[in-house]
Amino acid sequence: MPIKLQSFLFLVLAGASAAATAQEPKTCPPELAAEAPMVPLSIEHDDIVAGTLSFDQVRDFGRQLFVARFNRCDGAGRPASTGAGEKREVPLFSAEGELLTEGQVVHLRTSGPDAAACVGCHSLPETGGAGDFAANVFGLAGGLDPVTLSVGHARSVERNTPGVHGAGPIEMLAREMSRELRQQAAAAPDGVRTLVSKGVAFVVEIVGGEVVRADGIDRDLVIKPFTQAGTVVSLREFSNNAMNLHHGMQAEERFDLNPAKGFDPDFDEDGVTRELTIGDQTAISLWQAQLSTPTQVLPRGRAARDRIARGASLFDEIGCSACHKPAMVLESRLFVEPNPFNRPGTCAGADEGCPPYAFDMTHTGERPRLEKGPAGTAIVRAYTDLKRHNLCDAPGTGAIRYYCNEQLDQGRPVQDGRPGAEFFLTRKLWDVGSSAPYGHRGDIGTITEAVLYHGGEGRASRDAFVARAVEEQKAVVDFLKSLQVVPQSELVED
Ligand code: HEC
Ligand code: HEC
Repeated sequence: MPIKLQSFLFLVLAGASAAATAQEPKTCPPELAAEAPMVPLSIEHDDIVAGTLSFDQVRDFGRQLFVARFNRCDGAGRPASTGAGEKREVPLFSAEGELLTEGQVVHLRTSGPDAAACVGCHSLPETGGAGDFAANVFGLAGGLDPVTLSVGHARSVERNTPGVHGAGPIEMLAREMSRELRQQAAAAPDGVRTLVSKGVAFVVEIVGGEVVRADGIDRDLVIKPFTQAGTVVSLREFSNNAMNLHHGMQAEERFDLNPAKGFDPDFDEDGVTRELTIGDQTAISLWQAQLSTPTQVLPRGRAARDRIARGASLFDEIGCSACHKPAMVLESRLFVEPNPFNRPGTCAGADEGCPPYAFDMTHTGERPRLEKGPAGTAIVRAYTDLKRHNLCDAPGTGAIRYYCNEQLDQGRPVQDGRPGAEFFLTRKLWDVGSSAPYGHRGDIGTITEAVLYHGGEGRASRDAFVARAVEEQKAVVDFLKSLQVVPQSELVED
């Protein structure tokens, strides 16, 4: 579907007013004049909000950004920006092509850029989904860019690619919970308090009105539902990070318009400006938010169905659902872009040039859609509590390494004397039947092994699983295998 050329854009950001004119399509540098960018045009956020572009047009454009294999004409590559978005020296080459100063290599599997397109990793069982072990990312290596020496746990956190389906409802759950937890904390007297949102309890310590300790969540009480360590606020924040890290594509809200980056129109010094507009980042966020909701796929046979139903009740009986919460209620059915909890460098609202745009997740977007609940609510069957837990047994008790392999805390605080690196968000299980391999590193091949490696806070329920007869274990596993992302190509018209 053709995208209409944008209207005039007037941006006011952080007091500086930048009036941009209708954007010219991107062009290639002279030596590549015979080539073309993968995505020559950008869209503007104002045109999305004004309805100049329809939801479907924005969605299709967002998809295009997710699947585009960006090239130099688009602005791919980041000679002067690390994967973490810090400034660095542009590498110098001799006339013979010899590298004179250590700097960025065009593509590097560890610190990136490590892929041509988002879909290069997020592809199973369809675009936007999970990834195989080969699509692992060496998280934090972007800050040490270039990391050419080591892929060991002392330098980076190696993570497997999770699917993005259902991310819209997840982001909205996190927002509702953050708001509620902050309200409760503001009203609570000093002391150790238990805050509860959507049935999930968080123990915090408040001194002089300040949260000085918080278990399973950051002290700012903002639930960060993305990355398996729970470190990223929103799809938009993730997309800004990922575009720079993986592809060397700079979002203008993170770079060109960001006071912290000196309002530099070509921060990465690759000769391309306005690589991704605020509207582009809105489109890619909305496309991800409207992906289908993972769902349960039941086999035809009566016996198989009965076993799956039995597995679902066993899952509850043996304590799995204490963390993997089968359902949570969303007060609002709307997905609203942007997220007001976005941190500096990610557009958070009208003041920064991205007034809110909303769609109803139970009514719009790919099928199957989010399920309606009573009185305007929605039901999210994601099997997570969006809280960090520790699955590591105490040192010296033969802790199993799969879930306890990391050494860098990635901002996760020490809790109960245990290093932050041991804490992970309860993994969503609503797509577990189609997201193999398992575990945050993607080094676990079967669901049964993924269960057996639960120690620490998960040990009691893991032991209860082991204590069951094989038939019952199979019921739990079959139940989990029934939770899937159904590819759009397999949907039957209703
Ligand atoms: C090289 C492989 C790779 C590429 C390319 C990639 N991703 Fe990812 N993605 C990952 C991995 C690995 C994670 C998990 C990170 C973690 O847990 O620390 C992830 C996580 C995510 C998440 C959070 C999912 C969750 O539930 O935590 C989102 C959203 C996402 N990616 C979007 C994108 C977008 C948008 C792009 C393109 C701009 C992109 N990714 C490119 C591998 C990749
Ligand atoms: C204390 C909270 C907790 C309990 C109880 C718990 N889990 Fe988990 N589960 C987690 C966390 C956290 C992860 C993510 C581990 C990682 O990758 O680091 C996880 C991961 C998983 C995975 C891997 C999913 C994937 O896509 O990689 C499966 C499967 C799983 N759990 C099933 C179960 C089952 C079945 C039970 C009950 C026997 C159970 N869990 C009990 C917290 C828990």
